[in-house]
Formats: sequence, C-alpha cells, structure tokens
Amino acid sequence: MTKPNKILVLHGPNLNMLGTREPKIYGTITLNEIDQNLIRLGRDNNIEVICYQSNHEGDLITYTQQANQDEYLGIIINPAGYTHTSIAWRDALLAVNVPFIEVHLSNLFAREEFRHKSYFCDIATGVIAGFGAYGYTVALQSILSTAIATVS
Ligand code: DQA
Repeated sequence: MTKPNKILVLHGPNLNMLGTREPKIYGTITLNEIDQNLIRLGRDNNIEVICYQSNHEGDLITYTQQANQDEYLGIIINPAGYTHTSIAWRDALLAVNVPFIEVHLSNLFAREEFRHKSYFCDIATGVIAGFGAYGYTVALQSILSTAIATVS
C-alpha cells in the first residue's frame, strides 16, 4: 500500500472574495495567493496540496467525501459562514475519518456572538483563528511535521 501524500484544503463561501472582502477584517491577500503559497510549501515537502473553494455546501461535502485515508494525510478547512451552521459538513468529516484542522483568518471570539459557535471545533485536531493567512501555513506545517514524524 502506498502511503498518503496529499493534503486537501477546503475554503467555504465568500472566501473567493478575499482581497477585496472586508479588508480590515480579512486583509488584502487573495485566495489564489493563499493557495499558491500552500501548494509551494507542499511541493517543497513532496506533498500534493489540493485547494478547492465553493459557495455551495453540497460541493464542499462531496469534496470532503473524496478524501480517503489511503491518499490523504489531512484536511485543512476554513468553513467560513458554514462554521456556524453546517451539521452536514461536520457529518462528512466524521464519515471520512481523515484528521482535519479548522482555520479562520479572523479571531471569531473577538467578533459577533453568533461566530463563537463552531460545528467543527470539537472534532478538529486543532483550531487556528486570528492570524490571517499565516494560519493556513501553520496548519499545513503541522500536518507536514506529523507526516515526517510518522515516516522517520
Ligand atoms: C471566517 C469567519 C467566519 O465567521 C466568516 O463567516 C467567514 C470567514 C474567517 O476566516 O475568519 O466567512 O471563517
């Protein structure tokens, strides 16, 4: 059996608007820049990083279902608005049984109360919030370091 060598990055709704979307909260980096940084970091470590954004819950669930344990080391998700609503995406992550990290650009706990509730945080390996795009890098490095530790 070949060992898993892929990491899936899933971005939820409105994250395609990064760059111009509420820059005071989310900064000016675009989603493409975030993705390219992650893909490069993965490539430097011989890991294929696959990034996908959707404004549709069902698409994100379908992508999640494709991430099987044989191929995928982990999943990084920014569920965006679905963080606070999606039982169905939570169920998909439980079904595939691939470890995942939840990332948010902003500090949810410094924002409106409805953002304090996450349907993912209790089943995630870890949660990173408030560090902007750097949070994705930390999440990826964390999965890579676990992968390297497992191999050596
Ligand atoms: C977000 C925070 C969510 O509350 C919001 O709906 C988003 C982005 C973040 O990255 O800070 O769309 O997930």
